[in-house]
Amino acid sequence: MRPISFHLANCIDQAIQQGLDRLDAQLLMLWAHERPLNQRAWLLAHDQDMIQEETYAKWLQLVNRRLNQEPLAYIVGQQDFYGLQLQVNPAVLIPRPDTETLVEWALELAPLFSQTLDQNLLDLGTGSGAIALAFKSQQKSWFCTAVDASEAALQVAVHNSHHLNLPVEFILSDWCNNISKTRQFSLIVSNPPYIVPNDSHLAHLQFEPISALVAENQGLADITQIVHQATLHLRNGAYLLFEHGYDQAEQVRQLLIQQGFSQVQSRQDLGGNWRCTGGCWNPSSIL
Ligand SMILES: C[S@@+](CC[C@H](N)C(=O)[O-])C[C@H]1O[C@@H](n2cnc3c(N)ncnc32)[C@H](O)[C@@H]1O
Repeated sequence: MRPISFHLANCIDQAIQQGLDRLDAQLLMLWAHERPLNQRAWLLAHDQDMIQEETYAKWLQLVNRRLNQEPLAYIVGQQDFYGLQLQVNPAVLIPRPDTETLVEWALELAPLFSQTLDQNLLDLGTGSGAIALAFKSQQKSWFCTAVDASEAALQVAVHNSHHLNLPVEFILSDWCNNISKTRQFSLIVSNPPYIVPNDSHLAHLQFEPISALVAENQGLADITQIVHQATLHLRNGAYLLFEHGYDQAEQVRQLLIQQGFSQVQSRQDLGGNWRCTGGCWNPSSIL
């Protein structure tokens, strides 16, 4: 293996000139060296090293993939979410920081259910397992169940559950269809597909699975179906919480109110968008 006559710093500067962010270039350089992505200090200490021929070939491939708009998380096969390092691949949506709002809301509600038998959560459309695993990491006594209609997505979620040693029950199901009618939960959370089919943002999401993103009926088809199905599986006093589009909060509130939910409210994400909406299922209080 011969060194190529470029320093690591030269390579990174060239990639930036071609259009890459500095951070992405640094992370890809670490990845090309098979180093953990949290070792940027190593890069600073070695930026005058000559790059090896084999590493250079790998680096060029990685840079080209990123310049073609492939998300960094798919290139390196991992994404951090709520302090957990999750494996991801193109079968799953890359977990977003905004989704941590939903996790935090569920965690705030958890102490309401102190009886062991009531400590169970259902995550509908789990993808990489992000929400269920983040919740389980903070609430070890809860029994968490996670559903997805995609077998390939569930394989990723099962891997993450084993790798992180966070036991979760996984079920292949079209929303609640394969969940036994007798099962009831205290918290049902969901980040379902909610993007309108002709939304211009989809052009930037071309690498992610379309089945994780798009819903008919102005993006509300899946949320509407879940609102109807979930009531069968919510015990008295349980909560149903959604993540949805930045402009869908009012419509989701109306869906929950029409279905008979109480305490219906919305929460803002890190960017100040009304990103989550939920309510309490308390049918005994309906006149
Ligand atoms: C927006 S992604 C959310 C993934 C993950 N919960 C997260 O927050 O990163 C929506 C997920 O719902 C799943 N999904 C779509 N339609 C479904 C259905 N009918 N039943 C169950 N899961 C479904 C998709 O496969 C995808 O994993």
